[in-house]
Amino acid sequence: MNKFALTSWMCLLGLSSMLALRLEPCELAGQLYILDVPKVELPLWLCIADYESRFNTHVIGRANSDGSRDYGLFQISDRYWCAPPEKTAYHAFNECNVNCTELLSDNITSAVRCARLIKKQQGWTAWSVYAEFCNGTLTDADECFQQTTEAATTEPILQIETTTFDPEMD
Ligand SMILES: *[C@@H]1O[C@H](CO)[C@@H](O)[C@H](O)[C@H]1NC(C)=O
Ligand SMILES: *[C@@H]1O[C@H](CO)[C@@H](O)[C@H](O)[C@H]1NC(C)=O
Ligand SMILES: *[C@@H]1O[C@H](CO)[C@@H](O)[C@H](O)[C@H]1NC(C)=O
Repeated sequence: MNKFALTSWMCLLGLSSMLALRLEPCELAGQLYILDVPKVELPLWLCIADYESRFNTHVIGRANSDGSRDYGLFQISDRYWCAPPEKTAYHAFNECNVNCTELLSDNITSAVRCARLIKKQQGWTAWSVYAEFCNGTLTDADECFQQTTEAATTEPILQIETTTFDPEMD
């Protein structure tokens, strides 16, 4: 069973809150926005999170050919960017100065900070999904911020907690 099928299955059983957090796209947009990600970048980050993790914060990818693994929403490599939980031969740098497990947190602050550092150093092509899926016309994230007239855009539309208690969302 692949990890996405497994996640969906767990969500159906209503176990999602403890084992995997799946964000709605607009939730992620709201979280990124309050973390100071420029609005023009939101469609790209949403696309990358979609294709890398299907918006699941807790995903650890299967081992790459060198044994390294990718962590979280943006599937950040433990070879160069974070410190893996156990000593590994391939681990070379911890550029984001963070433990890889922190990149799996429901609090996406560290994952976003690290992803932005990667983007700053390497550009969007650091993500292999970029060229294939995200380098073109993307859905505007503006609709995420137009829910209601009185809700200020500085507020996230939805809090992270809301989806985890709604197994029918999936
Ligand atoms: C990573 O985890 C280790 C052990 O739990 C801890 O000593 C270290 O301070 C952590 N590093 C960071 C950058 O959080
Ligand atoms: C999320 O993590 C950041 C940095 O690790 C921390 O400063 C912030 O207080 C955390 N937010 C919550 C709601 O726990
Ligand atoms: C992105 O798209 C532009 C325009 O189609 C193209 O020139 C460029 O090579 C593409 N970049 C990547 C990394 O695929």
